[in-house]
Amino acid sequence: MTHRIAVIPGDGIGKEVMPEGLRALEAAAARFDIDLELAHFDFASCDYYAEHGQMLPDDWFETLKDFDAIFYGAVGWPATVPDHISLWGSLLQFRRRFDQYINLRPCRLLPGIKSPLANRKPGDIDFYVVRENTEGEYSSVGGKMFEGTDREVVIQETVMTRHGTDRVLKFAYELAASRPRKKLTSATKSNGIAITMPWWDERVAAMGANYPDVAVDQFHIDILTANFVMHPDWFDVVVASNLFGDILSDLGPACTGTIGVAPSANINPEGTFPSLFEPVHGSAPDIAGKGIANPIGQVWSGAMMLEHLGHKEAGDAIVAAFEAVLAEGDKSLLTPDVGGTGTTESLGRAIAARLAG
Ligand code: NAD
Ligand code: IPM
Ligand code: MN
Repeated sequence: MTHRIAVIPGDGIGKEVMPEGLRALEAAAARFDIDLELAHFDFASCDYYAEHGQMLPDDWFETLKDFDAIFYGAVGWPATVPDHISLWGSLLQFRRRFDQYINLRPCRLLPGIKSPLANRKPGDIDFYVVRENTEGEYSSVGGKMFEGTDREVVIQETVMTRHGTDRVLKFAYELAASRPRKKLTSATKSNGIAITMPWWDERVAAMGANYPDVAVDQFHIDILTANFVMHPDWFDVVVASNLFGDILSDLGPACTGTIGVAPSANINPEGTFPSLFEPVHGSAPDIAGKGIANPIGQVWSGAMMLEHLGHKEAGDAIVAAFEAVLAEGDKSLLTPDVGGTGTTESLGRAIAARLAG
């Protein structure tokens, strides 16, 4: 069976890490005899915006909807396009229109990478953030009043639906139930956000009735961020609303030494639409053009994509390959964020070579 993949590098380091993500994918495809058909697109980038005045072509939905998956780099170039224009014009459209309501973000301390937290070693940090990905605080409900006057008012509503909340909670409980520790932590803020978040807590408890084997706890988001730093070993699966999940999924990887390695899967579990795989990080304008971005976030996202497409063994082989390269610790191959003197390409090539065997 051929898997049709839409490849969208985007902006900044997205264009630098994507070739390494593809290099690993192609090495895995060759080794495991997987047939990948790649189609490359230049839209959903700020360069495309500069030429066309919009981030996406009018027919983007038709163009992408029948692909088996989308492999994305990163988008955003705030020097030329305001972030809310570029992101709402691209990535956030994909997530919403393709109903990718799960954003699955593993967070693991990898061999050979030093955690900024004292005395943490691989095994101590190993959890998933399950982030609601289509509603919540990321809503387009709201507006401005009395603009330009001293009575200016801006309102942006949080929208949580029972359908949207229960389906992400179910996914998180299922994931927790499938893991040895069977532990789920809910990110809340029901002390201060007194309408939506107490309701979120109720939905967490109601869904929990179906999963008696899963131990559930909850923390308000403020102390939860502190506990990520002080007690990352407490966590197994963490479920969160869209914004809380966004914050936790940068903080978690930071505790593992660099956000450059963190992957994500934006999943439409029903398979009605393509799911989208991308690193957690953005386009990193501060290092773009230098060839030093860590490609592992992109490579690992490719592994998640292969697993999603039914090739778990190949996905696992990709993970084993970058873990082996990191564990070996040849600084000349590794990128600076993990203490190396190498480049995006040297690390990407080392991973692909390891995969080839
Ligand atoms: P960022 O993730 O791009 O960068 C944050 C910091 O992490 C920077 O110092 C950067 O150099 C470093 N970093 C990120 N990826 C790295 C990698 N692979 N290797 C080594 N270091 C890495 O976040 P930001 O600066 O807030 O955002 C920059 C742009 O990216 C903005 O336009 C933002 O909206 C966009 N963004 C896009 C996505 C996405 O496409 N999913 C995610 C986050 C931010
Ligand atoms: C992410 C990013 C996006 C988000 C931005 C760029 C809109 O930070 O994928 O984590 O907030 O979801
Ligand atoms: Mn983010």
